[in-house]
Amino acid sequence: MKTLKIGENDRIPALGLGTWKSKEGELYKAITEAIEIGYRHFDCAAIYGNEAEVGRALRHAINEGRVKRDQLWITSKLWNSMHKPEDVRPALQKTLDDLQLESLDLYLIHWPVALKPSLGNGFPTGSDDFLSLREVPLSATWAAMETCVDAGLAKHIGVSNFSIKKIDDLLQTARVKPAMNQVEMHPFLQQGTLVEHCHKHGIQLTAYSPLGSNDRPDRLKKDDDPNLRDNPKIKILEKKHDYTWAQIALAWAIQRDTAVIPKSVNKDRLQQNYDAADIELDDDDMAKISMLDRHFRYINGDTWAQQGTDYTLENLWDE
Ligand code: A2P
Repeated sequence: MKTLKIGENDRIPALGLGTWKSKEGELYKAITEAIEIGYRHFDCAAIYGNEAEVGRALRHAINEGRVKRDQLWITSKLWNSMHKPEDVRPALQKTLDDLQLESLDLYLIHWPVALKPSLGNGFPTGSDDFLSLREVPLSATWAAMETCVDAGLAKHIGVSNFSIKKIDDLLQTARVKPAMNQVEMHPFLQQGTLVEHCHKHGIQLTAYSPLGSNDRPDRLKKDDDPNLRDNPKIKILEKKHDYTWAQIALAWAIQRDTAVIPKSVNKDRLQQNYDAADIELDDDDMAKISMLDRHFRYINGDTWAQQGTDYTLENLWDE
């Protein structure tokens, strides 16, 4: 498995298992099968509501001697309602308790959006649920994330859904440099400038929704959303190599030196996705895929751009 350098001395496996949208009851089996297949990188978040199930599966595998803790890379994310500095460490501790771990390999600020703590582990239902970034600046949340590294609760810290501007702002005040920016990335949203900028600063990227998140909630779906599976150019590559469309999308992500976290709860697809990490696409394949870019977001940020708040799509993505 290819790995990417993180911080001074660590490496993250380029392909990991995504756990967003995995339903209760499915995930324990999926994690157990994934470990058997060879997966060592698991991407979690408090808001997915399933960290306790991930924790049970990991603990069982460790106790059975199938894998050692130090062979695993576990990422989780701070939910938006826990951005106040005093809430960051308790939020991380809750995640650690659920995952049955002493420390994380990577802890990310999930979104550059702050919600009121009273909301708990949930989504806003109106503008009253929001806090502005003037009230709780990202730099203050970041400083609290840094204390989690000091306390040995997270080996590395990073961000998710951050634009170039927000990365640059953070670098101004950060004592611990962000190690990772996890963003939506796939052939329809290649994020070339962001990738280049982060790499220039030694920040790795992880691609979420690399397969287009077909199982995303209905509120995030529109009839004319493009899909990779039916794209004629991808179909040509499927025939040329005898790989599936999903494998091509994953191999493309890894070949451009980004990590990728496809979600699956199906054993065959878990295997198929894992095998994609060993696929080599040629220059012509990469060039063909690069032509598919259309800056299309499946997760477009609508949830946060609510009237009566400071948040807009423009200032969320800074574009
Ligand atoms: P399933 O969990 O039943 O395998 P993303 O990682 O972009 O969020 O996409 C996840 C979606 O893609 C899920 O619906 C998942 O279904 C499906 N999926 C995962 N791997 C594959 C694959 N190799 N081929 C087709 N669909 C896949």
